[in-house]
Amino acid sequence: MGLPRQEPVSDTRRRDRVLVGRTEPADDLEIVAAIGSHVRDATGRRYIDLQMGWCVGNLGWSPPEIMERVRRYAGPSYVAPHALYAPWVELAEALLEFAPGRLSRAYRCVSGTESVELAMQLAMAHTGRHKIVSIEDAYHGNSLGAKSAGHPATAHLLGFRKLAPPLDARALDRLETLLKPHDVAAFIMEPTILNLAVTIPDVEFMRGLVALCHRHGTLVIMDEVATGFGRTGRRFAVEHHGLDPDIMTLGKAITNGVAPLAATLVTPEIARATAGELSFYSTFGWQPLAVEAALAVLAYWRDRGDILLSAIGDRSAEMRRRLASMPLPDDAEIRIQGLAVGVTIGDPARVRRVVRRCREHGVLIGDDDDAIVLFPALTIDAATLGDAMDVLEDALRGR
Ligand SMILES: Cc1ncc(COP(=O)(O)O)c(C=O)c1O
Repeated sequence: MGLPRQEPVSDTRRRDRVLVGRTEPADDLEIVAAIGSHVRDATGRRYIDLQMGWCVGNLGWSPPEIMERVRRYAGPSYVAPHALYAPWVELAEALLEFAPGRLSRAYRCVSGTESVELAMQLAMAHTGRHKIVSIEDAYHGNSLGAKSAGHPATAHLLGFRKLAPPLDARALDRLETLLKPHDVAAFIMEPTILNLAVTIPDVEFMRGLVALCHRHGTLVIMDEVATGFGRTGRRFAVEHHGLDPDIMTLGKAITNGVAPLAATLVTPEIARATAGELSFYSTFGWQPLAVEAALAVLAYWRDRGDILLSAIGDRSAEMRRRLASMPLPDDAEIRIQGLAVGVTIGDPARVRRVVRRCREHGVLIGDDDDAIVLFPALTIDAATLGDAMDVLEDALRGR
């Protein structure tokens, strides 16, 4: 695959354990190179990557179109947030043109967490309310606010209410009960919940959601940090439902991982109402080199987006066909939307065994409790995907 060779750094694991702060032990995998759908470790072993940094490397690792533009960049190394900088206007314009609905202003953030945090603050400033409703066990980032909109065990702040799945038509009634006190600033969710092993809400729920929230004076935040930029087979997952959010959060694949950048997009009313109401300053928000990477990603989508979406459809159908014939338990559930795939196989220990066997045979997949999750590069070719599916099938057979 033309990856540069590098000598193994044998004591990285030992030194990492002492020096690098982590809340979980590191994977036993020292990455030294990443190109397209492949990564290589320090021992020279090559893997097919079906995680892509959890929805970051949507265009494959080190895509030449993005890397070349970043390498050529010769503008300022930094611009302070209060200054004017033409590429910020250019990026805001390109993002808002790319995004669906009535979103008309883009705020500059560094990470997905920051974009969610800002989204909730904007909703509070716009509505004058301070409560947030989110999906039970969701994940929206690692700040105190974003965590409080997530799993109950990580919730620290008051005023966060949870809507439990299943997200069907009846969930609208349960949501209405939560909204009725008229104190909820925003309802936040991923339009396809990748953080719940690719949970796909019912059409009825998504169809009724915005009208219900608006009836009770609550804004709708769609967190597209993971689903955005083609992951679910549309540019954004809200497009599956024709849903117009009031606020949308973006991150991850927005620069394909080349540099950190995120954005919070809002409607004109919210931008107007919160001007002066809310103070928001992010030192590294839309740092110039990261802006260059994001502009390159958007140029890629402009020039080749339709071809990419059609390829995602083909690969998605192929994954569906392969998974349907794999040796899965009778009650297994396969959920696929574009190239976001969750397969619940019912037993976390078996999931861990399958993940380990895949790794031993050169394929990196993810796990989420009792499900395996697959997020291949959107640019993966049919042969590579076929090879990875062969390995997964063998792993499920216990080989
Ligand atoms: C849906 C969603 N929102 C927000 C975040 C937080 O993004 P970041 O890790 O860039 O802060 C994540 C990260 O996984 C996510 O999946």
